[in-house]
Amino acid sequence: MGSVGAKDVPQLLDANGKRIDGRGLEELRPLKIEAGVLTRANGSAYVEWGENKVMAAVYGPREVHPRHMQENTKAVVQCRYNMASFSVDERKKPGLDRRSQEISKVISEAFESVLFVEEYPRTSIGIYIEILQANAGTRCAGIVAASVALADAGIPMSDLVPAIAVGKVGGKLAVDLRKEEDNYGEADMPMALVPKSGRLVLLQMEGHMTAPEMAQALEMGVRGCQQVYEVQKDALKRRYAIQRPTEAV
Ligand code: CDP
Repeated sequence: MGSVGAKDVPQLLDANGKRIDGRGLEELRPLKIEAGVLTRANGSAYVEWGENKVMAAVYGPREVHPRHMQENTKAVVQCRYNMASFSVDERKKPGLDRRSQEISKVISEAFESVLFVEEYPRTSIGIYIEILQANAGTRCAGIVAASVALADAGIPMSDLVPAIAVGKVGGKLAVDLRKEEDNYGEADMPMALVPKSGRLVLLQMEGHMTAPEMAQALEMGVRGCQQVYEVQKDALKRRYAIQRPTEAV
């Protein structure tokens, strides 16, 4: 692999302020969510967000494995985020690397604060996120899928959790970065929101922003999350409508 010279860096914003895929700064990539796609899991959801393709499956509340991780006062939330080998340009070595472990941990913590874990002591709630195709923003897509899967499993929680990354590209703040923007932009800030309370349950930051830029990025992220939230709710409404008998026998 050669090093990336300045001439190789793509121009992230054109003269009209459009991004490389033609989007505006606050425009999300197309987002599609389907709830209840797997029969063996207690709850599931499939998300296509731009070129990201993500499956989430939820099991539980069920027995804790390994046993010593059991907690007497609450359920433990165990998330496993995994990137398939074929999900990225260069085949990813299978298994949980440091990045996947970190993402699994922050997603577990995000959901632990939203799920009513005290209602299910000595159990585990397992959240499995499989990234089938990646194009930046996969931890956000994973959270979006997992929260619909948790609702599909009927696990009580205070709200759905929409998520989005806000970043800085070509000197401007932009939402929902795609891979080139993530790689060559100045900053990437994934966040996950609990819309009903306005609480952030995940906030990470790579790169550089000024404090005023960060405040503005948070506002843009909240607006982006509201859009994602509507798509999540719609997926659950469609799932419910399909299950309801249409005619009395
Ligand atoms: O996916 P997310 O933005 O949450 O996490 P990231 O660590 O910022 O990764 C950004 C993107 O880099 C991923 O979505 C993949 O498209 C790509 N990537 C990759 O190509 N190979 C890896 N081993 C990890 C990430």
